[in-house]
Amino acid sequence: MKTVKDYIRTIPNFPHEGIMFRDVTTLFGDGAGFSLAVDQMVEAAQGRDIDKVAGLEARGFILGGAIAHRLGCGFVPIRKAGKLPGSKISEAYLLEYGEAVVEIHEDAIEPGERVLLVDDLLATGGTAEAGIRLIERLGGQVVGCSFAVDLPELGGAARLRAMGMDVDMLCA
Ligand code: PRP
Ligand code: ADE
Repeated sequence: MKTVKDYIRTIPNFPHEGIMFRDVTTLFGDGAGFSLAVDQMVEAAQGRDIDKVAGLEARGFILGGAIAHRLGCGFVPIRKAGKLPGSKISEAYLLEYGEAVVEIHEDAIEPGERVLLVDDLLATGGTAEAGIRLIERLGGQVVGCSFAVDLPELGGAARLRAMGMDVDMLCA
């Protein structure tokens, strides 16, 4: 019986020398693998009474959209800078390999809504923390952070848990 980890390949030195890039396209491209990942992330979200799923661009959209559909929730995209057309708020953050800005539409989340944050991979936690800050600035409550892959040596899970977050991941 294959696990989620079995579907993910590692490509050395992408996008920069020294980075071991976890490539989830092989997970998403396999029907059994993609279903397994979505099923397990939906299972981990049970009992959290979720109003909306927020996905982090770009790979978080693929998992987040499928999870939102399964939960019967709306989906909210947290996008890289300059992509959202309406009124929005922004947060800057540092990455394992660079820096970036993410944005959310101001009207995407109502105060008090319970939000599940979804991405494919947790590395330093910088992207997820920026997403959490955006959701909380709109008055949303992040009731879980769900990832297919964790890179524990980069400390993201510890960073999010230190913020009081419930963090679920399928493999490391
Ligand atoms: C990757 C990954 C996460 C983020 C994790 O996205 O999909 O969003 O890095 O890193 P962190 O925990 O150190 O913040 P990337 O920024 O490469 O963007 P992409 O999904 O658009 O390729
Ligand atoms: N995002 C940040 N670090 C990454 C890695 N090592 N593999 C894939 N995506 C990443």
